[in-house]
This record gives sequence, structure tokens and C-alpha cells, in this order.
Amino acid sequence: MLEKTKIFHGDIVYSADRNTLAVHENSYIVVKDGFVEGISLVLPEEYLWADTVELGRGVLIPAFSDLHIHASQYAQRGIGMDRLLFDWLDSYTFPQEARYADPEYARAMYDAATLSMMKCGTFHASIFTTIHRAACDYLFERVRSLGMQAYIGKVNMDQNSPDFLCEDTSKSLKETEAFVSSHTGDPRVKPILTPRFSPTCSEPLMKGLGRIAAKYCTGLQTHLVESPAEAEAAKNWAPGYACDSDIYEKCGLLEHGPVIFAHVIFPEERDLDIIRKYNCLTVHCPEATTNVIAGIMKAERLLSEDNIPIALGSDIGGGSSPAVYHQAALAVQLSKQREFYFPEESGHLTFAQAFAMATLTGGSAFDHVGSLAPGYRFDALVLDGLEDPMSPLSPAEKLERFCYCGTDANIVKRYIDGKEIFL
Ligand code: GUN
Ligand code: FE
Repeated sequence: MLEKTKIFHGDIVYSADRNTLAVHENSYIVVKDGFVEGISLVLPEEYLWADTVELGRGVLIPAFSDLHIHASQYAQRGIGMDRLLFDWLDSYTFPQEARYADPEYARAMYDAATLSMMKCGTFHASIFTTIHRAACDYLFERVRSLGMQAYIGKVNMDQNSPDFLCEDTSKSLKETEAFVSSHTGDPRVKPILTPRFSPTCSEPLMKGLGRIAAKYCTGLQTHLVESPAEAEAAKNWAPGYACDSDIYEKCGLLEHGPVIFAHVIFPEERDLDIIRKYNCLTVHCPEATTNVIAGIMKAERLLSEDNIPIALGSDIGGGSSPAVYHQAALAVQLSKQREFYFPEESGHLTFAQAFAMATLTGGSAFDHVGSLAPGYRFDALVLDGLEDPMSPLSPAEKLERFCYCGTDANIVKRYIDGKEIFL
């Protein structure tokens, strides 16, 4: 029994809840069969003979969850960042995504994107691909072989898209059903329906996706009220829809699995009601917001007053860094900007709230990840090299410095289900 038990000794930090860090200094964490068994200041006698990993000045934290990333846009990160959304989509993103018709290109880029995510300590993710099913199939197997937990979506778009990336409606539905049906049953990597956003999807397409959702019990990821123009266009999308989220509700896309709405920058009260009614997760993508989207999510207000869960997303390639830990720092920075310009509306995020978004809340979309409390999977990272000579930091300070100033080189060990992984 003991050979399946691992002990780590040192500083441990995770989120106790959406607002609070749990800090265990100089403590022992017992990991049994890949799950956290307990944390204590003194090692229980029954484990005295088990191997102990000494963390030294390092700090142990849960791995990150990226709830909104376009793996298909990895090659364009940091390029075209002076454009705004629609210009950026037309000039960079759509031509880039068209390249995934080529299986060799798809393999090379998906290998690079997923390796980069693992290096950043992102072991759980909700991923957009492109319209191309063969490339999606490859990414699905790749993500599975890496041991990640993930949702993977074949993108749908049948209108307002360039000819080279615009699908025929019935073919889009057929390909989506083939993708979903051929990948059901894996507990760790699951298909998710991915209409790009309401402007690029027709009503027959959305309704067809709703039928697939019901048949295969599939969730949804999409971009929601990302710009004022998109929020306004949603009202005229087709007769009978009141707002952007109403489209997804009326087309039957919110009832059968997790619902992950990226951005949610310009929600109406009706959107918030629908988000609460179906326990949807919203995803703040601070870097993409800064780069290609003009608007800042009301993160602190949504979290504190509206009680809406917010995860973090890199939104590669709207975001330029796949590091969710940088997104956590940026979320705090952007919330201060919002507070400055709208002081009557809300305060700013604390670092503890931003870290919870990056781990606990994002992890809630998956199976027992996002924390190191007893009962969670030991998907964990050891951070080190964050202190200056003669300037020791507390465990929470080390974590905060990592999110602001760290790089992948500060992640000195990575574990999935209690097993160390080497990249
Ligand atoms: N809205 C529609 N497509 C996209 C995309 O690829 N990235 C972002 N950030 N927003 C979008
Ligand atoms: Fe996006």
C-alpha cells in the first residue's frame, strides 16, 4: 500500500474558497493513489516510512485550468495585436485557422500548443480548434496521451465567415455529430459543442447543435457578449431572441453539460439570469481583452454581487501568453483599471480571488482538480527560485511573485494524478 503513497514536506498554497488562500507552511501533504489524503504539521506515524519529497524554499500549488484557449491560434500569438476584434479575425485568425485543413500542419501546431500549455502548468483546458474534424480528432488523441483533462470542440461557423472557412449547415452538423459520437466515453477528455459565436452561426445550425447536445449529453463553449456590436446584433439575430444567451437557451444548448461562456463583457440582466439559472461558468480573458477586445469584464462585480463563477482563459491567440498564472496577475491589474474608471460600480479583485479563478473555479469544470484540499486529485506544481538573497518571502508572496514575474522555468516539478511528469 505504501508504494502508492507519496509525502511532500514544505509550503503548500491553494484556494480555500473563491476569496481566500489556504496556506500551510512547513507542512506535510499525504498523496494516496493520486489523491490528496490530508495535510498536517506533523507527519502521522503510519506514514513515517514513506518517501518524502522535501520542497525546500519551493511552494506547492494546484495546477492551472485554462477555460478558453484556441489551440488553433497558437502560431499567431503576439501578432496583429494592434487590431481590434473583427479586423484581427479577418486579417490574421481566419487565414490561420484555414491552415488546419492540412493534417501535417495541424499535427505540428497542436503538438507545439499542447506542449506549451503543459510547460505553463496548465493541465486542464477547454479548447477551441477549427472547423476541420480530422485535425480535431488528432488534438483529442494528443491531449489524451498527455494525461490532461479537457473539453475539445470542433468549431461551427456557417455564415458571416470567409468562403474558405464557411461551412455548409448540414455538413457542419454531420461532422460535429461524427466528432462527438466518436469521442464519447472518455472520463478525462470530452467533446464539447463549439459554435464560434452567434454572428457566425445560423439559427438552423444552432438548433441542430441543440439536438446533438440532447442526444449525446454534450456541453457548450462559445464567446458571449464580447463586444457592444455583438451584444446588439444578438437581438436581431433571428426573430424571437432577446439577448445573446437567450439564443443558446432557446436552441437547447444549456441543459446537457457544462456551459462555458468566454468574455461576458457586456451582459444584460437577462444574460446574468440565464447564466445563473444554468450554472454557467464565465471566463475572463484579461490579456485578450487588452489586445483585441475593447472592454473590461466587470469581474469583481460579477463575482461579489452577482455570485457568478469566473474562470480564467488565455484566449490564445487573442491573448499572447498561454500562461494562466500571468492571466491571474492581469485580472487584478485590469480590475483596478475598471475601478478607476467606474468607481461607483465595484472595487477591484484581490490576488486571492484571481488565483481562485485560475485554479479552483476553472478546475470545477473537471474531475476533482483545482485545489490541494483532501479529496482532490494531486495535479500539482512545485514553484521555486522566486526569492532574492536575504529577502525571504512568505508562501503566499512567492505565489504572487510567480504570477507577476515568473516564467515556466520557475515550475520545477509537475504532477498529474500524483505522478511526476517530465516534458
Ligand atoms: N470571437 C469570435 N471568434 C473569436 C476568436 O477567435 N477569438 C476571440 N477572442 N474572440 C472571437
Ligand atoms: Fe476566444
